[in-house]
Amino acid sequence: MINIAIDGPAGAGKSTIAKAAAANLGFVYVDTGALYRAIGLYIIGCGIGTKDAAKIETALSGINIKLKFVDGEQRVILNDVDVSLKIRTPEVSMAASDVSAIPCVRAFLFDLQRSIASENNCIMDGRDIGTVVLPNADIKIFLTALPEERARRRYDEFILKGVETTFDEVMKDISQRDYNDANRPIAPLKPAENAIIIDTTGNDLEQSVNIIINTIRERI
Ligand code: DC
Repeated sequence: MINIAIDGPAGAGKSTIAKAAAANLGFVYVDTGALYRAIGLYIIGCGIGTKDAAKIETALSGINIKLKFVDGEQRVILNDVDVSLKIRTPEVSMAASDVSAIPCVRAFLFDLQRSIASENNCIMDGRDIGTVVLPNADIKIFLTALPEERARRRYDEFILKGVETTFDEVMKDISQRDYNDANRPIAPLKPAENAIIIDTTGNDLEQSVNIIINTIRERI
């Protein structure tokens, strides 16, 4: 199987770009952030603090997460309920970042991610795909952009989806998550040693998608 890892900070355009590239290549697109978001959503629903490692470890036994791929779209199924839309709120973003720093949460999701990659030609995006989940990925890309531009893109996405928020709130969320994700002791956000670093600041979506597709096609 061909596995392509795309890592990078929130709002770098990973999901939109990886999805378009996967469709072009006929690969499955796997958004691993959605898995952490599903756990964040569940933990909020239980009324447990999103940094309470001991309670979260116990709560994990009540969680069953599956990914379904319908017409190239990933759906996240949490305890038999499709939560694909519910996990896209600012509150769940922050909860996902919090729970993702807890080692047992990462271990819980590790096998699921590995088994999807072993069964599919895929582009998998996240924070630690090239460094931890798929260290032998065929291609590793680290996608980034300046924080203001990432916040602007996320803000525009929220507005399109009808999520109520402000640019300042999104900027604060992005900065906080960048800090959390890059500074946690376990599987922090950082480029793999052999990652190709691509900065999409100033690019429109089509330009970024073309760069990624060309980068991949040159190598496979
Ligand atoms: O990609 P995203 O914004 O949907 O991810 C939500 C959070 O999940 C992110 O802030 C950190 C965490 N995450 C992670 O720790 N490792 C991954 N491979 C993917 C996401």
